Amino acid sequence: MSQTTPAQINFEGKAVDLPVMKGTLGPDVIDIRKLYAETDAFTYDPGFTSTASCESKITFIDGDKGVLLHRGYPIGQLAEKSSFLETCYLLLHGELPTAAEFEPFENSITRHTMLHEQFDKFFSGFRRDAHPMAIMTGAVGALSAFYHDSLDIHDLKQREISAHRLIAKMPTIAARAYKYSVGQPFVHPLNKLSYSENFLRMCFAVPAEEYVPNPILTKAMDRIFILHADHEQNASTSTVRLAGSSGANPFACIAAGIACLWGPSHGGANEEALNMLKEIGTPERIPEFIAGVKARKYKLMGFGHRVYKNYDPRATVMKQSADEVLEAVGDKNDPLFQVAKELEKIALNDEFFIERKLYPNVDFYSGITLSAMGFPTTMFTVLFALARTVGWIAQWKEMIEDPGQKIGRPRQLYTGAGQRDYVSISQRG
Ligand code: SDX
Repeated sequence: MSQTTPAQINFEGKAVDLPVMKGTLGPDVIDIRKLYAETDAFTYDPGFTSTASCESKITFIDGDKGVLLHRGYPIGQLAEKSSFLETCYLLLHGELPTAAEFEPFENSITRHTMLHEQFDKFFSGFRRDAHPMAIMTGAVGALSAFYHDSLDIHDLKQREISAHRLIAKMPTIAARAYKYSVGQPFVHPLNKLSYSENFLRMCFAVPAEEYVPNPILTKAMDRIFILHADHEQNASTSTVRLAGSSGANPFACIAAGIACLWGPSHGGANEEALNMLKEIGTPERIPEFIAGVKARKYKLMGFGHRVYKNYDPRATVMKQSADEVLEAVGDKNDPLFQVAKELEKIALNDEFFIERKLYPNVDFYSGITLSAMGFPTTMFTVLFALARTVGWIAQWKEMIEDPGQKIGRPRQLYTGAGQRDYVSISQRG
């Protein structure tokens, strides 16, 4: 990071010079850390549309160009050439691993996939029709009740073990949340399988017959995990960072991230997008739906983004993936896919969407692929949380290891009542 000509703010007759810092890529930042001390005023930015909350080396997004880099590598290249576990290593350590570095990493993850036998009792406490995200939020937070040996966030080894445990156990917990919802027996992880093969087997294997992994689905699953691994300072990542800034243990921080991701404006959009496509049903009903969007009756789920004002590069890969999966196991003329493609075409040529720079985001096509793979819509955000766990933990780790790290504590613009004295109830009204 380098400094450049300071910015100057004139406030109540006082000129204040504020340092400007340049990153490797992307906008410069105006360092306002001394602003309150010098002006007795706060900045005001609800929704953080113009605020950089931290310095990071993990992910870079150019929203205007539709660029997404993880440690400098374009998402399209990682999705095509890497694997999810290799991408996990890259996000955590900053470099693609050599074979000698990757082997122990993969072994460690593989050997942490099992859950404590007592842990499985959590699931039976939920109703069978509990939303799997409700189960994930509760279960992941409960991990800190089992792993007392990796809660010391100031111990490098313990940080590493808890990161590996989270990456390894999320698929097992997610698969159990699914099995519990369909009333099928839990399936234990099988170490000889790859990460994504193992997850699909834990979800779809049944005792009544031998489970045969499908390489096309395994590849699609692994690619979907890569596409969802990290995304700069989005709402759930910012939640994890803020929770972690107080010194909370990593399991509790990831549970906070899962809770935030569940929202329909964020990770919950993939479930809402497929429900929207089902509701539209046929291409003929698209104009009526678009009219409702323009009348602000509802939003086009899976469209729009705070940062991307161009096509989300992940949506491009996701659309290709949908083609492949539908060709392999689904109906390549899947009506929902036809509706999605027609909806995209119409929206991208409609002034309402053009002037607001609304394009498909990662959630627009993912549901079609996941549905064709056999997942119910209620599992879509669970899969997003499973994949994003590595991004959350990498960002948490970067924050904890920042020597300048301090607890996050924003201020406010207060517009409530001025000070006044208490009045007893007999004197009121
Ligand atoms: C994710 O931040 C991340 O990186 C998130 C994520 C990640 O990987 O972590 O990329 C994952 O959350 C993707 C986004 C998933 N959400 C959705 O698909 C839900 C639908 N999208 C919208 O809710 C919305 O686009 C947001 C929440 C994603 C972004 O909203 P912003 O940046 O706050 O933009 P805005 O609400 O101020 O919208 C600007 C204008 C408004 O129009 P006006 O009122 O000014 O006329 O665009 C309109 C909005 O009404 N608009 C939409 C729209 N999204 C924005 N109108 C119709 N359909 C939409 N989808």
